[in-house]
Amino acid sequence: MSSKKIIIANWKQNGSLKSLRSLTSQIIKALKLKSISHSVVILPPYVYLPILAEQVLSNKKIRNLSIGVQNVSAFSDGAYTGEVSFEMCKDFGSKYFLVGHSERRQILSESDVLISNKVSRLLNHNKKVILCVGETLAERNKKLDKSVISKQLISALGSLSSKSKIKTNNIIIAYEPIWAIGSGKSASSEDIYNTHSYIKKKLNMILKPCKILPKVIYGGSVNNTNSKEILSIDGVDGTLVGGASLNAKKFIEICSSI
Ligand code: 13P
Repeated sequence: MSSKKIIIANWKQNGSLKSLRSLTSQIIKALKLKSISHSVVILPPYVYLPILAEQVLSNKKIRNLSIGVQNVSAFSDGAYTGEVSFEMCKDFGSKYFLVGHSERRQILSESDVLISNKVSRLLNHNKKVILCVGETLAERNKKLDKSVISKQLISALGSLSSKSKIKTNNIIIAYEPIWAIGSGKSASSEDIYNTHSYIKKKLNMILKPCKILPKVIYGGSVNNTNSKEILSIDGVDGTLVGGASLNAKKFIEICSSI
């Protein structure tokens, strides 16, 4: 697998047009000036996608910055009020699609079935999926973390039709322990190493035959002070950053910390 890491900014439901344009231009400027060789992806709220995509895509010299969305519909065009399809996002340059974030699973009651339908639709259309998995604190305390993650992976990827036609390099798994999100306390290096190893082993089994193993990235209180250590853990192929990605200086430091 390539050693190139991927740093993804999940801006969630934050910011205004003005603040996110400014954040985007500061990221673009840093990528022009600094030698950041890894891939950087920003996931703005849907409404700002067209404007920010134009900002990103008009900078032809920057090859390592892409844009994506935080959610996507499981359906093709039709009577699905409020939903947005990948085709619509693609019209505005969206390359990555985040699916199954714990906030969507928990607060918006997204089911495993819905998540699996989103993942299948995207992969069947050769699109890049970032699938989030992770356990709650209660599950961790009961030592159920691995079985929860295994269930999430099997449910999202286990029933893919025509597995042989799916490009596994279109899949990124984001391990985000729910207790670490927004808490200021990331998982320990040992926990991250163990869980990423477990996820990779599991992916090898679920996606058989699998020439290219999906990247596995970590999210949950990643910031500019812990990113270097996290990114240097064996088996960590990148990070998914929430809060710290809303601060240009911190996010650029995270992107430069490897
Ligand atoms: P924080 O980086 O704010 O903990 O959020 C992580 C996250 O949920 C990214 O998707």
